[in-house]
Amino acid sequence: MRAKVTIVGAGMTGGTMAQRLAETGYADVVLQDIIEGLPQGKALDLAESAPHAGFDARITGSNDWEDTARSDVVIITSGVPRKPGMTREELLGINAGIVRDVATAAVKHSPDAVFIIFANPMDAMCHVALQTTGLPQNRVIGQGGMLDSARYRTFLAWEAGASVEDVHAVVLGGHTEATMVPIVSTSTIGGVPLTDALPKERIAAAVARAKNGGAEIVALLKTGSAFYAPAAATVRMVEAVLLDKKRVIPCAVYAQGQYGIRDAFVGLPVKLGAGGIEQVYEPKLWDDEVAAIRKAAEATKELVGLIGTA
Ligand code: 2OP
Repeated sequence: MRAKVTIVGAGMTGGTMAQRLAETGYADVVLQDIIEGLPQGKALDLAESAPHAGFDARITGSNDWEDTARSDVVIITSGVPRKPGMTREELLGINAGIVRDVATAAVKHSPDAVFIIFANPMDAMCHVALQTTGLPQNRVIGQGGMLDSARYRTFLAWEAGASVEDVHAVVLGGHTEATMVPIVSTSTIGGVPLTDALPKERIAAAVARAKNGGAEIVALLKTGSAFYAPAAATVRMVEAVLLDKKRVIPCAVYAQGQYGIRDAFVGLPVKLGAGGIEQVYEPKLWDDEVAAIRKAAEATKELVGLIGTA
């Protein structure tokens, strides 16, 4: 029997995730949304792509939470995207209410699922999902690091004129412009330390562009935010869970002492497998990188504190 993945929110991100996921063939996909017809229409269109795309996975679109029952993974994409000039933090109040509602309904039907949170501001939304669902900490995971690292790797590859496949670099910390921490100390291009592969100012340019990566796309699109790279990043996380791959990748996790951070979601390297987060790593980084990760966790705590009043 195939695994089952529910994607909550049938917007551009949810739809693109459903496509990528169905095409892997690992899982049946339920696309859930409150808008009548939207998830059904996208699911039907995707199902009709199967003869050419070559997959047998079932895709269902639904407004009914019953259809999501017993999912192995639930991805929460629902929420309002930012408009040009907005920060992710400005979505706090509206998206907290949405995430609370959908997480409550989703966990009722899939209490054993691993939850991946994508809605923004993502780190704070992870807190909302953790509190609302009452799930163990290792099963509420934020998607941010995988996307931000993909952007960082892309820009580093362009700077170096090297294959993106050989760029090993992660973004830790938070998933906002102010809190992202593109890591330089441990990054390599084909085993060559980044600081040997590129001049300082070219690394700084890639770091700055990675931090601004989401806003750059929002400004270009004018309506909505990025969805191709976010979908690709999320599908790799789902795959790590469904195939018990034990990938070591950057995800937002509820820190319990790493770098002295406690009770806050923050992007750290984690081992992701069938049980959700199986290990959290605390690699030796430069002092300024560690300080920035700590600052990111503090900023998320502050945002979480505002939720009641937002
Ligand atoms: C991004 O960075 C939507 O937060 C997402 O594009």
